[in-house]
Order: sequence, then structure tokens, then C-alpha cells
Amino acid sequence: MTDPDRLLAAAVAARAGSYSPYSHFPVGAALLGTDGRVWTGANVENASYGLSMCAERTAIFNAVANGAHAFAAVAVAGPDGMTTLPCGACRQVLWEFAPGLTVVYADDGALTQTPLAALLPKAFGPSEIAEAAAARGILS
Ligand code: THU
Repeated sequence: MTDPDRLLAAAVAARAGSYSPYSHFPVGAALLGTDGRVWTGANVENASYGLSMCAERTAIFNAVANGAHAFAAVAVAGPDGMTTLPCGACRQVLWEFAPGLTVVYADDGALTQTPLAALLPKAFGPSEIAEAAAARGILS
């Protein structure tokens, strides 16, 4: 089994923690830190639907809150047979910490790897804030 296979298997396992009684769309995510640690998450929904949280953000918020700030890859597993990639909000949050991230998922059953940069072209992130601060002559 390759590393991406293993990471995807971790995402499938994490999906078991999904709380998705409203969408019935369980998702699991497994985020690989550059130090080799794997952080997992599942989507957690709420009766006030807009308060629901995606699997990918559950994983990365858990990682960051525990001091991990550098990531190599994230695997995402939606319902069996569904090709599931991070939503727009999750792409943005992942970009904050890992513009070089690889996104791993099953596409028609085939393990697939796509750079986050390809999923979020012309992204806005920390470097834009720093660039604007530098242009104003403020130390960033
Ligand atoms: N969802 C995720 O957790 N990650 C994704 O990449 C796509 C969407 C969740 C949010 C919601 O709980 C359910 O899937 C349906 O949108």
C-alpha cells in the first residue's frame, strides 16, 4: 500500500465519526503533517444547518490547535462511490497553511492526487496580506 493509499484509508476510517443526519453525506478527512503525524476529521452537522462543519476543517483546526502548522497532503472520503473534493471554504482554509498541499481522493474508484493550487487558482492568502503591509512600509 502506498502512502496516498494509506492516507485515503485513514480518511475512510475517519468518516465513521461523521455526524450528518441532515445531509446524509458523511465525509472523512486525513491530513498528513510534514512531521508524519496524521490528523483526522469528519463533518459535524447542526440543526441550524449553517453551523455545520466540514471534515477537512475539523481536521486542520484540530491539527493547528495542537501546534501543527505544516502539511503535505490531505485525503478526503465522501460517501462510498462518490468523488468528493474539498469545498471552496475548505480549500481556502487549507491554503492558509499549505499552499503546496496535495489533495488525495478516489475518482471513479481510482486513487487520484491533485495539487491544492490547481483547485484554488489565483488564491488569496497570507502572502497577499504581507505584500500589502510591505507596500505600506509596515514591517510584517
Ligand atoms: N462536506 C464535507 O465535510 N467536506 C466536503 O469536502 C464537502 C462537504 C460536508 C458538509 C456537509 O455536512 C455535507 O458534507 C453535505 O454538504
